[in-house]
Amino acid sequence: METKSSGLVRDQLPLTEFFADQLRDVYGAEKQLSQFLPKLRKAATSPDLAMAFEDHFKVTQAQISRLEQIFQLLEKDPEAKKCDGMEGLIKEGQSVIEDTEAGSATRDVGLIVSAQKVEHYEIAAYGSLRQLAKTIDKAEISRLLEETLQEEKETDMLLSNLAETLINQDARAEIR
Ligand SMILES: [Fe+2]
Repeated sequence: METKSSGLVRDQLPLTEFFADQLRDVYGAEKQLSQFLPKLRKAATSPDLAMAFEDHFKVTQAQISRLEQIFQLLEKDPEAKKCDGMEGLIKEGQSVIEDTEAGSATRDVGLIVSAQKVEHYEIAAYGSLRQLAKTIDKAEISRLLEETLQEEKETDMLLSNLAETLINQDARAEIR
């Protein structure tokens, strides 16, 4: 095996490649999520929650296009890698749907828990990627990642508000 030589170019390339690889991961994650969001929408009882999933589906489509723009700026082909983290989160969401009664507020509470876990995962990914883009001197890419990061934070906040104001009130009636 070749030993690693010192020198800036050799040290910089792996970081850029690592960044590109993380982008492929989050690109895969968004695609996986965009297939799952319609299922969340259908499973939701509250019209407000169903609307939130519908809106986030549209936002996710735009985020996928934004990632494609980022790949272009990086001069890489957009290539999705299966995201194991998102796969696990989606499996959890599927279990929530299987384990709760259709039409119940308890199911809506569960859907919000699952969706917020997804949002926090994405916030972690985009927060790190935004910083990494700065580190490799890609200011425009960093700015685009910041836009997505803010959208994920807004979605997380919207879900918190729904849980607080609406869903958990209805769920109280289902305490047994
Ligand atoms: Fe997203």
